[in-house]
Amino acid sequence: MSTIHMNNVDAHALEPKASEFAPDVVARFAKEVAKYPGDQKQSAVMACLSIVQQIKGYVNSSDELFLANYLEMPPMAVHEVSTFYNMYNLAPVGRFKINVCTNLPCQLRQGQTALEYLSQKLGVSVGGTTKDGMFTLQPGECMGACADAPVMLVNDRTMCSFMSTEKMDQMIDSLRALKDDGVQS
Ligand code: FES
Repeated sequence: MSTIHMNNVDAHALEPKASEFAPDVVARFAKEVAKYPGDQKQSAVMACLSIVQQIKGYVNSSDELFLANYLEMPPMAVHEVSTFYNMYNLAPVGRFKINVCTNLPCQLRQGQTALEYLSQKLGVSVGGTTKDGMFTLQPGECMGACADAPVMLVNDRTMCSFMSTEKMDQMIDSLRALKDDGVQS
């Protein structure tokens, strides 16, 4: 068994470093914080995480550390929020993230079938991203539209309802055809 010698290792080099954000981004954080009483800065954590994701496409531990310092809350509390809501990407995703609802009411109305169809159509496993970086496919939690199943969200914003195979084909074709002014997260 090999032994790791820590004597020559700078302990500070092993500590996670907080991200740095440009002043205009910090100003956006401050605007969110200003919506709450001075002693409740942490109430802005979801909005601040969303801003980070809009800018970078995902949120990592360095970003969480920055926000923990900025909002004066424990890093773990920020992490609890980012991992509780599946709208936050904890790793880079494709240009279009598709979440297919697979909760029980949708399962009873072809939700899982729709997810598997897209997996096969895009040639990507559930949770993965296509090789061209265009699509990330994920299961999703209830989107409050159970009667419209199968339902899916594109980039956490665009709800697609009653998604038959024909409508899924059309959706994928439309997204592939979008230029840079297309659906953004
Ligand atoms: S269970 Fe799918 S939208 Fe509610």
